[in-house]
Amino acid sequence: MAPDLARRDLPRYSAAPMDALGETPLNVMHDETCAGVGVGSGKVILLGEHAVVYGQPALAASLERGVIATAQFASAWSLHIGRWNLTVRPRDTEDADPIERAFAGVVDTLGGVPLALDVLLQLPSAAGLGCSAAIGVAVIEAVARAQGNALQRATLSELARRWDGHFHGKASGVDSAVATYGGVGVYSLESGWEEVVPGQPLPLVIAHSGEQSATSDLVAKVGAARQGDAERVDAIFGRVGQLTRLGAQALERGNLAALGDLMNENHALLRTLDLSTPALEVLRTVALDSGAYGAKVTGAGGGGCLVVLARHETKLPSLEAALRRHSRHVFSTVIGAEQFASCEASA
Ligand code: PMV
Repeated sequence: MAPDLARRDLPRYSAAPMDALGETPLNVMHDETCAGVGVGSGKVILLGEHAVVYGQPALAASLERGVIATAQFASAWSLHIGRWNLTVRPRDTEDADPIERAFAGVVDTLGGVPLALDVLLQLPSAAGLGCSAAIGVAVIEAVARAQGNALQRATLSELARRWDGHFHGKASGVDSAVATYGGVGVYSLESGWEEVVPGQPLPLVIAHSGEQSATSDLVAKVGAARQGDAERVDAIFGRVGQLTRLGAQALERGNLAALGDLMNENHALLRTLDLSTPALEVLRTVALDSGAYGAKVTGAGGGGCLVVLARHETKLPSLEAALRRHSRHVFSTVIGAEQFASCEASA
């Protein structure tokens, strides 16, 4: 039987101490006044963004930082995001904002007594780290729990995909799947989320270009390119799909050098679709000159973040320091660190 929300664990993989982007670790929240709590993880796409919208697989990993939503019983539905200084009500009229429409969809589907939702963001928005999907998962989970409704994970992921569609235009579901399941996995429209067990911990640095990018604009831009030249764009996506499959195998075998090469090729393909920027290219050059195995745009691109694969965990501090000279928002994370720590402890 699929696990229900009441038994859902927090994301399993740990992140190194957060600084500029994060605020509060995710292992919080046991507030007595709370009717329900929901947690959605942020994510990095290691291989396969955009191609995943057209049916190819993508390889992604959750970040420990994410979004926490708390629900309290109230006289009317509301959703408050302190970091954006925003409070909205559910509304699905033509002039409604995407967040109002997304919220209206949740209220329509899950219903029940009105709730006031408070959302704590540990992720930057419009940065390629899956912020909107993480908000969706956290809000839907908090609402379901407050209403005593034990959603299965597959249902949560699907509802969050619909939520994310309001922000992406055309959401593949990769962000909502990672935000729901956590860990590392391959996602495709056909097969959903399939867990991948890394053969080595994955030392990553995430560096923000300082430029925001709206996923819906970038997804539309790629859609227009595909309409203009379907053969060329589908050939790129076909190759990206192969890179993803090879990358998942490399990761399972713990072959980080091979994974880095695949990330570099994927970046080159994203660049031909005009999804990189001069600021991202500067960061990438710095990362590779500092000895990283690979570096690529992650998420929608057109700004947002670069994901960098370090040669080893011990290289993270120097890599971070080099990137910090060009980016105000840099953090590192070791995907799978806890899993390997517990293996070592029990060996
Ligand atoms: O930039 P983000 O975090 O919203 O990620 C977008 C990923 C895309 O593949 C570009 C879109 C999608 O829905 O898969």
